[in-house]
Amino acid sequence: MNPTKQTPIDYQIVNKTIRKSGLESIGKASIREIVKLVNDIESDTGEQFIRMEMGVPGLEPPKAAIDGEIEALKNGVASEYPMIDGIEPLKYEISRFIDNFINISVKPEGCLPTVGAMQASFAAFMVSSRRNSAKDTTLFIDPGFPVQKDQHKVLGLKYESFDVYNFRGDKLRDKLESYLKKGNISTILYSNPNNPSWICLNEKELKIIGELATKYDAIVLEDLAYFGMDFRHDISEPGEPPYQPTVANYTDNYVLLISSSKCFSLAGERVGMMAISDSLFYRKFPELKQYFPSEGFGYSMIYGALYSLSAGANHSAQYGLLEVLKAVNEGRYNFVEGVREYAERAKAMKQLFLKYGFELVYAKDKDQPVSDGFYFTISFPGMEGSELLEELIYYGISAITLDITGSERTEGLRACVSQVSLNQMDDLEYRLQRFQEDHLKSVYIKRRISESLNACYRTGYVSL
Ligand SMILES: Cc1ncc(COP(=O)(O)O)c(C=O)c1O
Repeated sequence: MNPTKQTPIDYQIVNKTIRKSGLESIGKASIREIVKLVNDIESDTGEQFIRMEMGVPGLEPPKAAIDGEIEALKNGVASEYPMIDGIEPLKYEISRFIDNFINISVKPEGCLPTVGAMQASFAAFMVSSRRNSAKDTTLFIDPGFPVQKDQHKVLGLKYESFDVYNFRGDKLRDKLESYLKKGNISTILYSNPNNPSWICLNEKELKIIGELATKYDAIVLEDLAYFGMDFRHDISEPGEPPYQPTVANYTDNYVLLISSSKCFSLAGERVGMMAISDSLFYRKFPELKQYFPSEGFGYSMIYGALYSLSAGANHSAQYGLLEVLKAVNEGRYNFVEGVREYAERAKAMKQLFLKYGFELVYAKDKDQPVSDGFYFTISFPGMEGSELLEELIYYGISAITLDITGSERTEGLRACVSQVSLNQMDDLEYRLQRFQEDHLKSVYIKRRISESLNACYRTGYVSL
């Protein structure tokens, strides 16, 4: 970056703020560190960014949720501890929701409100990884949500991972089995739709995962943070197909992690859901007794993990979630329509990025183009992801690198559409156009240099 060059966001200020942030590398920065950096640049320059770094729902929450929570507060729940495993009507409504929209049956007993899907995964890792000391490692089917790896670091747990993009369909079986047959995998985690690539595992792949989880006694944590948001299939009709695809059709070894943050725009309430399969809930693992008050998986989850983490989820937020679930279960509120706008934003944004020389990194979902949803992934020819992210910040555009998501595609960035409104498209276009003008030339020169060097090595003019 040439310091004298004009960039849409003042070069000197951006440069100073990056240095002041103390971040060792922008490319390795966590989502929240990028959020902080961009907040600082926005406040120092007075310029608004195209903010694509964090999955904050940019939509209004459903009225039923707000009303339900206010009513509960007025009724005095704020002063009362909720039961750790959740208020009875909510447990029932979660079970009904799973029946209506996933078409599987989980008893209310195993349906637990949690402090976001974030806490649900933390608690699930705690229990699942301690049921058998020989199985001490989680397998992430990546790319994935970086914080779940941070949870492993905090808990001192081991993990392995692979990027699923080149192992779709039948290829998934051998790849997965190559890890599972070593015998050390306690837990398999993936998100579907996938954060960040937005690929969606299909029935065949879920069947492979389910069958192998049963064969090798691994527990699948199916992260449904983007429930119903593969907009190609409208699952919004209660009790009618199509349903949210799930591994639960193929194994009993599952825990579903369901976020209310995205599909119900309730991120601020920090209330999510965990559903433990009926058979896993009652299964006994003698080694759990070393850490928890019981050998039972479900009992350990509630009176061991969730108790020690937060002793339950926010009481009034449970009532808010209850009301929205009732509304969707009774067909009074269509939650998929409520968030479909994300697909429109993704379509418009992708078009602009492609117009100005960017490429989609995870471009295909098996043999189809990746659909429009909450995230998409981009790269710019000749640049690594960390370099691209840093450069884009001078143009008022923020994202995160794919590097921190377990992706093999280190040239890429994850772009989240949720905080970008359609009326920012002109700004985005102007900034991308400027970016292309300023960078295509240097990319061209870099390419020519590398081509000439390669030619020299080939012809022996230069020896290594
Ligand atoms: C894949 C994935 N899992 C879990 C979460 C956390 O969800 P919650 O807000 O319910 O804690 C997110 C949030 O972005 C996510 O993308």
